[in-house]
Amino acid sequence: MTISNNDFHYIQNILHKQVGIVLGMDKLYLVENRLTALAQQRGLASLQELLLQLRTRPSPDILQDVVNAMAINETHFFRDEPFFETLKTTILPDILVQRAKQRTLSIWSAACSSGQEPYSIAILLREYFPQLRDWNVRLIASDISSTMLARSRKGCYTQFEVKRGLPEFLRYKYFQRCGKEWQIKAEICKMVEFKEINLTETWPSLPALDLLLLRNVLIYFDDTHKKIILNKVQRLLKPNGYLFAGTSETALNRLNKQLKIVQSGTIVGYQVQ
Ligand SMILES: C[S@@+](CC[C@H](N)C(=O)[O-])C[C@H]1O[C@@H](n2cnc3c(N)ncnc32)[C@H](O)[C@@H]1O
Repeated sequence: MTISNNDFHYIQNILHKQVGIVLGMDKLYLVENRLTALAQQRGLASLQELLLQLRTRPSPDILQDVVNAMAINETHFFRDEPFFETLKTTILPDILVQRAKQRTLSIWSAACSSGQEPYSIAILLREYFPQLRDWNVRLIASDISSTMLARSRKGCYTQFEVKRGLPEFLRYKYFQRCGKEWQIKAEICKMVEFKEINLTETWPSLPALDLLLLRNVLIYFDDTHKKIILNKVQRLLKPNGYLFAGTSETALNRLNKQLKIVQSGTIVGYQVQ
């Protein structure tokens, strides 16, 4: 069944209002596929019935399901390998020198999807920075999607997922087989604090940050929402703290004049001026 333009605009409005996501007409097929699957999950006869329920009885529960269904969750371990290499060789060593006295480190992976990004950071810290064992390290990971957070907390990944980006020696060291899947070990799992945070709404109290990963999520927002988010980011970053966005999310300093570009090789990040 295809979705009418009218219904598509209705869904576009819901997503913009609820989570600030701007959905282009090119996502029509995605809306049809994902909402048809959602209708089936909810035991409804058709996509049409789901749309009717949304229009006549838009309960928080059904709205959350629509947001979860439409969130674009593409991610993988050590996504953008040069970025993680730069973190390992340049950014984290720099932060560690600066915080050596206080021995505290605060990192936030905002929009963590199914958890591969924060777990990649946790593995990096455990594998290459053993001196952090007696530091006070907070690694916070958040997403708007309760479904993705549940997956993240579970820390169970398919063979396909662990083969995407994760070096084999790290898989054998930090995961264990769990039937056909791979379970992240408890020592890594417990390093990450998962929270549900909608970036376009009020944020809970968060620590001042040394490192903020806001990767591959800003692309879904319009400039107004991006500016609001970046203003909050600017206030949360410690002096010399780093912000990194996705490789296609460039020129954030044009949306917030307090952010200055810091470049390390091909990797572009931001610090507060
Ligand atoms: C493409 S994934 C990015 C995952 C990871 N950061 C990476 O780069 O691999 C985008 C994530 O943004 C989340 N998201 C979308 N809108 C959001 C919002 N308003 N607040 C918080 N997270 C949001 C989605 O649920 C999805 O998990």
